[in-house]
Amino acid sequence: MTIPQPQPAAQKTHAAPYLVPLLVGSLVAVALGVYGRAHTPTGYAVGLAGFSGAQAMKSWLTTGTLLLAVVQVASALVMYGKIPGVRGPSWIGGLHRWSGRVAFLLSVPIAFHCLYALGAQFDVPRVMIHSLLGTFFYGVFVAKMLCLPKRDLPGWVLPVLGGAVFTALVGLWLTSSFWFFTTFGITL
Ligand code: HEM
Repeated sequence: MTIPQPQPAAQKTHAAPYLVPLLVGSLVAVALGVYGRAHTPTGYAVGLAGFSGAQAMKSWLTTGTLLLAVVQVASALVMYGKIPGVRGPSWIGGLHRWSGRVAFLLSVPIAFHCLYALGAQFDVPRVMIHSLLGTFFYGVFVAKMLCLPKRDLPGWVLPVLGGAVFTALVGLWLTSSFWFFTTFGITL
């Protein structure tokens, strides 16, 4: 006589935990791009005391954002133990979080001016790449933020998303601030 063996409980199939964040991030990127193309640019200019104009102001704010992003990458490398011989101090997590928060806050007025006043423009290759990178930047940023609280992520997800945010920002800087400084000089 055969004794019936207990059947293994039906395994729950979870869709990968990063799929929804990636989907939401893609929708954000597409929505920004559609908005940038669909609305009529206002040409509205913001000015901050001390700067000659919106372009100069945005170029410097973007440079500040990039420097904070470098702090982000360096602190992440320390936290992941990727720098031999460097043991992260206790405040490294706080440095990572706060440099990220301030970098994001700095980027918002810049991108607001880009999207609202200028829109997404595709006529010149540099500006087209810039516009696409701008929408990608916020899309992948949203995906990363939505992934952060998840505990069941594969180890590569956050480094890949963080690396993509950083790479997009480097591209944004090259196609805007770097172009501005090399065209008009390093001027306020
Ligand atoms: C959200 C999507 C974005 C769109 C559609 C967009 C679009 C544009 C456009 C059309 C220009 C004018 C380029 C020119 O005629 O020279 C511009 C300028 C600029 N953008 Fe963006 N941008 C976006 C996001 C960003 C972000 C996230 C940053 C930085 C964090 C940024 C930084 C700048 C800077 C510094 C300039 C001034 C220098 C220049 O005129 O090239 N943009 N943007």
